[in-house]
Amino acid sequence: MDDLTFWFIARITGLTAFAVLSLSVLSGEALRTSVLDFLAKNRAIRRLHDFTTPLWLPLVFAHIIALLFDKTAAIRPIDVVVPFVNPYEPYLLPIGLGTISFDIIMVVTVTSWLRSRMNNTLWMWIHRTSYIAFVALFFHAAYSGTDFDAPLVSALAWSTAAGLAILGVSRIIWGRLPA
Ligand code: HEM
Repeated sequence: MDDLTFWFIARITGLTAFAVLSLSVLSGEALRTSVLDFLAKNRAIRRLHDFTTPLWLPLVFAHIIALLFDKTAAIRPIDVVVPFVNPYEPYLLPIGLGTISFDIIMVVTVTSWLRSRMNNTLWMWIHRTSYIAFVALFFHAAYSGTDFDAPLVSALAWSTAAGLAILGVSRIIWGRLPA
């Protein structure tokens, strides 16, 4: 396989992971609001959240493995877990943001599996770091990616950001609804 093949795999899996994580964060935030009541019951939104949450794993691993093989990207194994040490100077910040996002989402996913053994408040605060991960992911994809200028990709990304903002404002105004 040549470098272009790895590059295409990295782009496809990165964009699909972005779409899946967007749905996961949106459905998670929607769970305690009534904003989507006209569209679906809380149980359906919960199912969507549970379904989309682990889907990112194979996609992001494929994204990273493809980039490790792609000589142009010049990603080393250490860049996958330690942010802002990659030698490719112009992309130091955007690639580092991808690493931060990866680290946070990994912790959020593992703690989701360990939830029953954890203190609920600690679990909740760890879980809320997903918003930080999403912001880091947004700028990672926008500034290191090739396809973010494409109308479809840009529309998806900005509608997710707008959706998160609307849900966030509704939680500030109406508070967090009980489960
Ligand atoms: C949560 C984990 C991650 C997700 C969801 C993700 C997603 C994305 C997305 C959506 C793009 C834009 C693709 C495009 O525009 O075609 C991208 C590009 C890129 N990502 Fe990630 N990424 C993640 C983690 C990482 C990590 C840990 C690294 C390496 C340390 C990395 C390195 C790159 C590079 C080098 C590009 C540019 C690829 C190109 O040349 O188009 N990503 N990523």
